Amino acid sequence: MIRRALLSLSGSERAKAMVSGFPVSRGVVARYVAGEQTEDAVRVSGEIAAAGLHVTIDFLGEDTVEPAQADATRDAYLTLLRRLSDAGLTSDAEVSVKLSAMGQALPGDGDKIALENARQVCAAAHELGTTVTLDAEDHTTTDGTLEALVELRRDFSATGAVVQAYLHRTEGDCRDLAGEGSRVRLCKGAYDEPESVAFRSRAEVDSSYVRCLKVLMAGQGYPMVATHDPRLVEIAGALAIRHDRAKGSYEYQMLYGVRPSEQRRLAATGELVRVYLPYGDQWYGYLVRRMAERPQNLGLFLRSLVSAG
Ligand code: FDA
Repeated sequence: MIRRALLSLSGSERAKAMVSGFPVSRGVVARYVAGEQTEDAVRVSGEIAAAGLHVTIDFLGEDTVEPAQADATRDAYLTLLRRLSDAGLTSDAEVSVKLSAMGQALPGDGDKIALENARQVCAAAHELGTTVTLDAEDHTTTDGTLEALVELRRDFSATGAVVQAYLHRTEGDCRDLAGEGSRVRLCKGAYDEPESVAFRSRAEVDSSYVRCLKVLMAGQGYPMVATHDPRLVEIAGALAIRHDRAKGSYEYQMLYGVRPSEQRRLAATGELVRVYLPYGDQWYGYLVRRMAERPQNLGLFLRSLVSAG
């Protein structure tokens, strides 16, 4: 109930206008977001790398409605990649890209514009020795995003895919994506999807996650296990052993600010752990989806706004 209400708030322009005036440094916002500037993302990435973890950086922004906004998002990634390279961080840090922020939803040529922008980001990442992963968004974009992935992988084979266990289709997508060298992030899924396309109960989503994980771990690709769920982390470890996978032939991924001690614990056992680090001033939708995952954080968030206001 609360989850659905919050997910619908994540798309509300009025709520967004009300909350987005607050500087990012406050309370819960700072817990989940590196900051608003490129320098913030680079600085926090350096801290994460120094702690022995890897990072994937997301320049916040989605549902781009103007071509200029899509170009600005692409340019933000190009600047970020150069700064990461200057800081010597491209072996520890890659970037995560939302095609909607690159122009996918623009009328007419949206898919083409997004692909072209993503291609430029992939080319820069490749040149600087790192990679790009295409985030998964709501189910209406899944086909378009997977088609863009195929195109991008022709030139940049390390481009990562993201699949969402809550979608009925995903076990099949995992089979298609489990080939050699294929980097695939498996997450539960963060959008409010209808039951015609998605599992709605926690138990069904978790079972689907395990089925998908089995396919990816048994395959020839590089699974990226994106979850904070202790049971799924344990199952992933057991599957890696069953399939004789060496540590580093798959990785764990968690969000910045979520279960940080578990991130360090896994890394201390020799596992490769990557932290998903968002930055930028468009943090509203991202943050509300995090509240939906853990409504206890909502009280903390509201209190931090009031006490800082
Ligand atoms: P679940 O929500 O069941 O949480 C398990 C446990 O983790 C909770 O009991 C709690 O202890 C802890 N936890 C979870 N969320 C928390 C929070 N916000 N604050 C504090 N504790 C929390 N989704 C998507 O649709 N497209 C995408 O591209 C991505 N990309 C992505 C990358 C990475 C690296 C991660 C980790 C996640 C995503 N997601 C995503 C989000 C994902 O789909 C999902 O919504 C969240 O990860 C929450 O699901 P869990 O698997 O953590 O399980």
